[in-house]
Amino acid sequence: MGELKISGYGDNLTINGIRIGDLSPAEHEAIELEKGGQNYSPLENVVVSSVQDSSTLICRKPDPDGVKAYIEEELLDGLCCYSAVNQGQLNKTIVDAVVAHLQNERIPTVPRSIRHKYMAAFLLAATAITKMDKVVPKVAGVEAPELMAKLSRRWGYRVKGIPANEAIIVVAADNFHGRSLFAVSASTDPSSRDDFGPFLPGIEAVPFNDIDALEKLFKEKGDRIASFIVEPIQGEAGVILPDPDYHPRVEALCKQYNILYCVDEVQTGFGRTGAHFAHQLYGVKPDLMACGKAAGGGIMPVSFVAGRREVIDVLTPGSEGSTFGGFPLASVTAVFSIKAMVDEHLADNARKMGHRLLGHFESIRVDFPDKIKEGRGAGLLTAFEMFNKPGLDGHKVSLKLLENGIYAKETHKTTVRLAPALTITEAGIDHIGDSIRKVIRDL
Ligand SMILES: Cc1ncc(COP(=O)(O)O)c(C=O)c1O
Repeated sequence: MGELKISGYGDNLTINGIRIGDLSPAEHEAIELEKGGQNYSPLENVVVSSVQDSSTLICRKPDPDGVKAYIEEELLDGLCCYSAVNQGQLNKTIVDAVVAHLQNERIPTVPRSIRHKYMAAFLLAATAITKMDKVVPKVAGVEAPELMAKLSRRWGYRVKGIPANEAIIVVAADNFHGRSLFAVSASTDPSSRDDFGPFLPGIEAVPFNDIDALEKLFKEKGDRIASFIVEPIQGEAGVILPDPDYHPRVEALCKQYNILYCVDEVQTGFGRTGAHFAHQLYGVKPDLMACGKAAGGGIMPVSFVAGRREVIDVLTPGSEGSTFGGFPLASVTAVFSIKAMVDEHLADNARKMGHRLLGHFESIRVDFPDKIKEGRGAGLLTAFEMFNKPGLDGHKVSLKLLENGIYAKETHKTTVRLAPALTITEAGIDHIGDSIRKVIRDL
């Protein structure tokens, strides 16, 4: 085995003689192609090297003069890690707490088989903010809907009385719940399913926002259906908002058929849509809710399921677990991610700034009615959609926005999502709006 030598920090970090600070964007790409799995296609010719403030990334790009390995430019982060950084990059409340925790408290990791004093803090904060009875911590976003599926099945057998191994979980078509085998079994997107079968049985999909299809399925198979798992607003599908009465009607149907109403708020939660949690926009109360992403404030992965006592209580010792779910550092990170959201009134700012951004979309649509089909969103989970015509291409728009100092990415061929940090100011929103206008004008 060859020897491995690692030295330095930051740009001086050097692995076997390769100093990270010397690599050009093309060399980064070459290493990723050579040494990494090809499950992403990042934007070309741009490498993030640090963050400047809550909404600004410092990026390395090829030197137009070809002299240096790269030049550095500012980029306004219009995506904030798909809503993982709602509180803004390096949010001071969270960073101070984490640094103090590591330096002064000195309790990074202990397993769940022994109590630690921050679990109580996490449970108190998470139940208070979600207004739910109980919370179970996990790590990655995908683990939260995965756990909702397990909880649904066990509740179905032990409480509802569904015959063994016959439970059905209903999902919405075009959903996104992550990449686990449950999530891809629930997915209707061929690109996340192809050649990953056989898939989990007992999952059925109905169209999103189609209450009649849901009712038909509940009528046919309701005695075997344990839950309906749905995103309040479909994020990855392209920011698809349901009719205002969809969720209240889903909630009523679920009650009528004794079926758990489970929302996946991994992307819509933590202030993103202008409420602490998007289901609150519709005045409903789910039985279970999956949270992730901004639950860790962009500092560390934290996810959890919050829910009704009767459902969470189907878990018994040994039936579920996670080494890093709720470990001390994650518990503290989550508590202060919640505190930042509340103290900084991030949901309010998301509502106001989202309104302003939608105003930009609308005025661009009015000026370019042959190009822009619509702008839509809730709070700062927004997207604009172009007509499906030659020349109107979401990827091309993302690249052009990059040239104008904005990082955004298409969700589909014609749809571009904008979901900046909830700390963004009016000036930041206007910069995004003006840049989109310029790009659309020149298309
Ligand atoms: C609604 C929803 N659920 C689950 C996930 C998966 O989260 P993660 O990528 O952190 O596993 C995502 C990610 O985008 C999501 O949008």
